[in-house]
Amino acid sequence: MNPSQPAARVTTNDKTDERRDSLTVTDNRTGKTQDLPITSETVRALDLRPMKVQADDFGLMSYDPAFTNTALCKSAITFIDGDKGILRYRGYPIEDLAEKSTYLETAYLILYGELPSGPQLDEWTYHISHHTFIHESIKKFLEGFHYDAHPMGMLISTIAALSTFYPDARDIFNKESRRKQTHRLIGKMPTLAAFAYRHSLGMPYAYPDSELSYAGNFLNMLFKTTEQKYRPNPTLEHALDVLFILHADHEQNCSANAMRCVGSSHVDPFSAAAAATAALYGPLHGGANEEVLHMLVEIGSIRNVPAYIKRVKAGEKKLMGFGHRIYKNYDPRARIIKGIADQVFEVMGRNALLDIALECERIALEDEYFITRRLYPNVDFYTGLIYQSMGFPASMFPVLFAIPRTSGWIAQWEEMLLDPEQKIARPRQIYVGHEQRPYVPMDSRD
Ligand code: CMC
Repeated sequence: MNPSQPAARVTTNDKTDERRDSLTVTDNRTGKTQDLPITSETVRALDLRPMKVQADDFGLMSYDPAFTNTALCKSAITFIDGDKGILRYRGYPIEDLAEKSTYLETAYLILYGELPSGPQLDEWTYHISHHTFIHESIKKFLEGFHYDAHPMGMLISTIAALSTFYPDARDIFNKESRRKQTHRLIGKMPTLAAFAYRHSLGMPYAYPDSELSYAGNFLNMLFKTTEQKYRPNPTLEHALDVLFILHADHEQNCSANAMRCVGSSHVDPFSAAAAATAALYGPLHGGANEEVLHMLVEIGSIRNVPAYIKRVKAGEKKLMGFGHRIYKNYDPRARIIKGIADQVFEVMGRNALLDIALECERIALEDEYFITRRLYPNVDFYTGLIYQSMGFPASMFPVLFAIPRTSGWIAQWEEMLLDPEQKIARPRQIYVGHEQRPYVPMDSRD
């Protein structure tokens, strides 16, 4: 049963009974039995605590490295059924949003729970597009970075720096303040990202154009040169917008968890978002799209795919862009992305690495190793090819993930802040180090 579904009545021996929603556990060390209530297919770890051998014992804990089977929170934002390959934001299927919505509409939905009415969308768009400018000092800040600094490093640093420009962001329990920081963060992320990109090229910064769409303005700040007014290619603008929708939230992933965890100390949202961006940077998370591209380049030709897969199966390599903690079926985002790729390739020409990617997918989906481990292409497998065709260097790929994920991070952060059950995130540990021992003076050490 899915953890998000309510407990149901069950039928036993042709007789319908009200289900007893509890787990009876016997502690064989003491012979004592305890009933643990089950709510939403979950037992509370704290309910284990009364199970002790001695009265002064700490009590039983649960051990779950990497949170593989621990619900961290109750959330009403994003629903994923990894076995069926379902992803919904606030109840709306990702396929419908990708086809019918825009990124800004979707961001509003994720943040405020409902699709905006016409006037609400106008107001929301106005606020976002009027918070795109960044303080001129941030440009000086960027100047300090080496020309080949990774743009994610620059992005993380400049997001963190925003907290110094907006000290009012510390007023986290003020709804109006949270709303303002939301406008600022979502509005400024594309500007910080584009400025980092222009810095790496040594090109003058292109300022935001609030007449363009969210994705269109981002393309403007990246690619504008001498033209008076930048006009984004509508296919590329639409493709980027759909990619933004697909990346907007993904429930309790590593970066959302970082946002919640850091935010739980009641720091301002810019500092928490910098931490979330840092979490996203890693190659197992949002950095995977960059790694996929490097991998496809390394494979080099369709001929070399079987040998590469052999190395993956031998544990020498990972097939980047494959596998997911939650999806044990085709990632629904990857399916939509394949369609978007065709549209982009029609405008920009077919990406030469596509055939290698398709061959990797074909071989992997027929191979026992991948089948038994239920490894399918994830969101990152094809995005790199699209981004590359659009003219982005590989180092910008994780940045393109971070921009839209900002709406999800803020929604997760706000939900955490307003949840009366949440406190500062502070896990326990099982201490496996030395017992107390006498200090060893220098002349007695080996
Ligand atoms: N290539 C080869 N083997 C893999 C892969 C892969 N990409 N992913 C998992 N496996 C194997 C893994 O070695 C393990 O095998 P065994 O049971 O023999 O030890 C088994 O599959 C289970 O994997 P796991 O590492 O326990 O799974 P996880 O849930 O801890 O990790 C993951 C999930 C996404 C980190 C992992 O699949 C991975 O490293 N994939 C490549 C990186 C990637 O594409 N990341 C993007 C994820 S989607 C977007 C996002 O979240 O940002």
